[in-house]
Amino acid sequence: MIDDLQLLDGFRLPALGFGLYKVPLEQTEEVVVAGVAAGYRLVDGAEFYANESQVGRALHRIDIDRSLLTITSKFWGEESQDRDAVLASFDATEKALGTAVDIYMIHWPRPNRNQYVDVWRTLIELRDAGRVRSIGVSNFTKEHVGRLIDETGEAPVLNQVELHPYLQQRELREFHAQHGIITQAWSPLGRGNVLEDPLVQEIAAAHDVTPAQAIIRWHLQLGNSVIPKSVNPERLASNRDVFGFELTDEDMARFETLEQGKHYGTTPDERQ
Ligand SMILES: NC(=O)c1ccc[n+]([C@@H]2O[C@H](COP(=O)([O-])OP(=O)(O)OC[C@H]3O[C@@H](n4cnc5c(N)ncnc54)[C@H](OP(=O)(O)O)[C@@H]3O)[C@@H](O)[C@H]2O)c1
Repeated sequence: MIDDLQLLDGFRLPALGFGLYKVPLEQTEEVVVAGVAAGYRLVDGAEFYANESQVGRALHRIDIDRSLLTITSKFWGEESQDRDAVLASFDATEKALGTAVDIYMIHWPRPNRNQYVDVWRTLIELRDAGRVRSIGVSNFTKEHVGRLIDETGEAPVLNQVELHPYLQQRELREFHAQHGIITQAWSPLGRGNVLEDPLVQEIAAAHDVTPAQAIIRWHLQLGNSVIPKSVNPERLASNRDVFGFELTDEDMARFETLEQGKHYGTTPDERQ
C-alpha cells in the first residue's frame, strides 16, 4: 500500500499528509478541519510554525478516533540545544496541541553546534518515557543520520527533507532505504514552482489529473511520505485525490530527467 508506510519502530505512517508551514494563524484551525474531512490522517506541524494551539483547537473539534491520526512536531532549538531546552519545547508543544505528539523530530541538525547527537538522546529519552510514540529528524544529511546510528544505535523512523522533482535526493533516499528510514518530502511541489513544468503538465494531462496530483503520485510511487501544503480547501482535497490513477514506468523515468539540484528552501548547513 503506497498510502501506508511501515516505520522501523513497528508503527505505521500514513504516507500522504499536509503541512502547516506558513499557514496563517487565522486559517490554521479551518485548514486542519478541512484536511481531516478530506481524508488526511497525517498533520505535519512544528514549534517554529507558531500555530500549534490552533492545530489543537481544530483537533478538539474533529470527531474521529484519535488513534487514526498522526500528529507531528519538531524541536526548533535555535536558542539552546540543551536537554532542558528540548524538554521545555516538547512540553510547550504538547500543551499547545492539547494532545499527544505522535512523531517528534529534530527540525535542523545545526551541525556547527555539534549537539544534535545529544538532542537525539533526549528524544530517545522522551520516547522511552512513553511521552512520544516515534522519533525522527528533519534536514539531516546522510552523515548526520550516520552519526546518530553509530553513536546511539538508534536510527530515526523518518528524515523530512526538501524533495521535489527538481531536487530528487537520490543518494539520501537510497541510504534511508538501506536503513529502513522513511524519506518524507517537504516542499514536495517545490513551493508551487514545479507545477509550471511543461513535462509535469504533459504527464498530468495524459492522466487527466492536475500537475500537483501527478507530482504527489510520483512521490508516493517512489515510496516517500509527502506533506504538501495548501490553505485552499479545494486544492487541499484535490491533492489527496491521487489514488485513482497510476504513473507508468515511462512517466517515472521522465520525472527522473527533471533533477536540477534546485533548492527552494534552506540547506542543512545554512541553518545553525
Ligand atoms: N522540515 C522543514 O524544514 C520544512 C521546511 C519547509 C516545509 N516543511 C513542511 O512541508 C510542507 C509543505 O512545504 P511547502 O509549503 O514549503 O511547499 P509545497 O507544499 O511544495 O508548496 C506549497 C505551495 O503550493 C501551492 N499549492 C498547493 N497545492 C496546490 C495545487 N493543487 N495547485 C496549485 N498550487 C498549489 C500552495 O498555495 P496555496 O496554499 O495557496 O494552495 C503553496 O503556495 C510545509 O507546510 C511544512 O509542513 C518542512
